[in-house]
Amino acid sequence: PTTRYYDWTLSQQTIAPDGLERPMLLVNGMFPGPLIEANTGDRIVVKVTNNMVNGTAIHWHGMFQNGTNWMDGTMAITQCAIPPGQSFTYNYTVPNQWGTYWWHAHAQSQYVDGVFGPLVIHSPDEPHLDEYDEDIIMMLSDYYHTDSGSLVAWYMTTESEGVEPVPDNGLINGRNTWDCSLDSQAMFPTGNKCTPGAPMSVFDFKSNTTYRIRVINSGAFADFTFSIDSHNLTLIEADGVDMQPVVIQRFPIHVAQRYSVIVHANQTVDNYWVRATMNTNCFNVDNAALNPNTFAIVRYEGAPITENVTSIDWSESAWNHICVDLTEDMLKPYYSEPAPAADTHVYITSSFQTIEADQINRGYMNSTSWVPLANDATVFQAQRGISKFDATQQIITLNSTGVVEVLINNYDEGSHPFHFHGHMFYVLGWGDGNYVPGKSVINTENPLRRDTSTIPSYGWTLIRFVNDNPGMWAFHCHIEWHMEAGLMVQFESLPDQIKNLQIPSEMTAMCGASK
Ligand code: C2O
Repeated sequence: PTTRYYDWTLSQQTIAPDGLERPMLLVNGMFPGPLIEANTGDRIVVKVTNNMVNGTAIHWHGMFQNGTNWMDGTMAITQCAIPPGQSFTYNYTVPNQWGTYWWHAHAQSQYVDGVFGPLVIHSPDEPHLDEYDEDIIMMLSDYYHTDSGSLVAWYMTTESEGVEPVPDNGLINGRNTWDCSLDSQAMFPTGNKCTPGAPMSVFDFKSNTTYRIRVINSGAFADFTFSIDSHNLTLIEADGVDMQPVVIQRFPIHVAQRYSVIVHANQTVDNYWVRATMNTNCFNVDNAALNPNTFAIVRYEGAPITENVTSIDWSESAWNHICVDLTEDMLKPYYSEPAPAADTHVYITSSFQTIEADQINRGYMNSTSWVPLANDATVFQAQRGISKFDATQQIITLNSTGVVEVLINNYDEGSHPFHFHGHMFYVLGWGDGNYVPGKSVINTENPLRRDTSTIPSYGWTLIRFVNDNPGMWAFHCHIEWHMEAGLMVQFESLPDQIKNLQIPSEMTAMCGASK
C-alpha cells in the first residue's frame, strides 16, 4: 500500500464557469476540485487549509471509514469545523472497496459553491478492468449564479413557501455556456458581468478505443438523465458496486449517485453531444433562466474543432422519466449476495411541515428537524456518554452488532436521494404509497447495494445494513436544500465502542470554547 498525499487550500475566488462571474469556493483554485486517486488498501492524507471566511469540513462520500468515524468529515456530527485560517489533516486508509466516489464540503452548503471533486479507487479485483482502455470522469452538476448561503437563507423564510431554489444552468466538469441575456429573467437575477460563449467540456475520443466513463452527480438539487448521441452505454458500476453489464442508451442519476459506463468509440469520426438533461418535471417550479439541457462534446481524433455539433438525440423520445432510480431489472450486482436477515427494525418518516410558530416549511425525519450543533459534534457528545442529545438531533442508537433494516416512508411530493455515511446498504425495494409487509415486492436474493438511493414521491424504500462500524453516521437527503431544511438523522453505532475510539485531540481542540 502507498500513502497518497494532497495539500489543499480552500479560498474564495471569482470565476465564470459558464460566462457569468461570481465568487466561488475553490480548492487550490480548481473547479471542480482535484482528483483523489488511490488503490484499495492505500492511505489517503489530505491537508486542508481553510482560507475561507467560514469553518469547513470535507467528507469522502462513500468511504467506509472502518474504525475512523472521526475522519468522515461531517460538521457537527463527526467533527467541529476547521476554523478559518487553520489547517487540519485528514488521514485514513481505504478498506476493501473500490470504484467511483467523490468528496465534498460537509459544512453549511459550501459544496454548492464549488468545494467538490472526484475520488476514484482502483483494485486489481475489479471484474471489468480488462474491458476498457481509458478512464474518463464526467461530473454533472446543477449550477446557481447566486451564492448558496443566500439561497438557503431565502429557502428558510416564509417567502419561499417551501419551494427549492431552482438552478440557472448545468455544468459538466465545471463548464458550460450560457445565454447572458437570461440573467434578468432568473429566479435570482445577479446583474454580474457575463461574457457569452464560455466553452463547454470536450472529451477526446480515439477511434476503436474503449472508455470507462465515471458519471458523478455532484449537484445540489437536480436529477439528470445522461446519454451520448449515437453511443451505447454499458453500465458496469453503481456507487462503488460492480454490476452485471447492461447495455442502455441513457440513465437517470440523482444527486450524489455514481455510475460507470463503458463506451466504444465505434462511430464515424465526428463530434457528438454528451447530454445531461435535468429532469425538471421533478421540480416544483420553473426558473425562466434555466436551460435544463446541459452539453459537453465527445470529439473523435480528426473531427473538426467546432461547437457546432449536429448529432441527434437518439434516446429522448422513448424516455418518460418519473424521478426514480434505475430499476432492479437493469441493475444487478456482479457479485451476487443475499441480504442478511435483519435483527433490528427502524422506521423513519420523511416529510415537510410548517409546525413552528414562524410558519417556515421545514424538513422532518420523524418529528425532528436537524440543525447543526454550534461548536460541538455528536460523536464527542457520545464519547462523553451523553445519552440525551439536543432536541435538534435525532439519534438512533444501535447498541449491538447485527443487521439493521430501515423502512423510510416519504410523505412529501418530492423524491429524495438518501445517503448513508460509512456504509453500503442493501436496497431491498421501493415503491409508491406505503410498504405492506408480505405484499410489497422486495428482493432479498441479490439486491442492489449502494450508498445513495432515491425514495419516490409519497413512497417507501426498504434498506438493510450491517451495523459493525462504531461512530455517528449521518443518514440524510442529499438534496442540499433539504439537508439544510432538516432532513437528516444520525445512527449512533455501538456506543460502547465509540467511547474507546482514539480520536486525536487536535480534533476536539477545533470545537472551541464550548468544548
Ligand atoms: Cu455526500 Cu452526507 O454526504
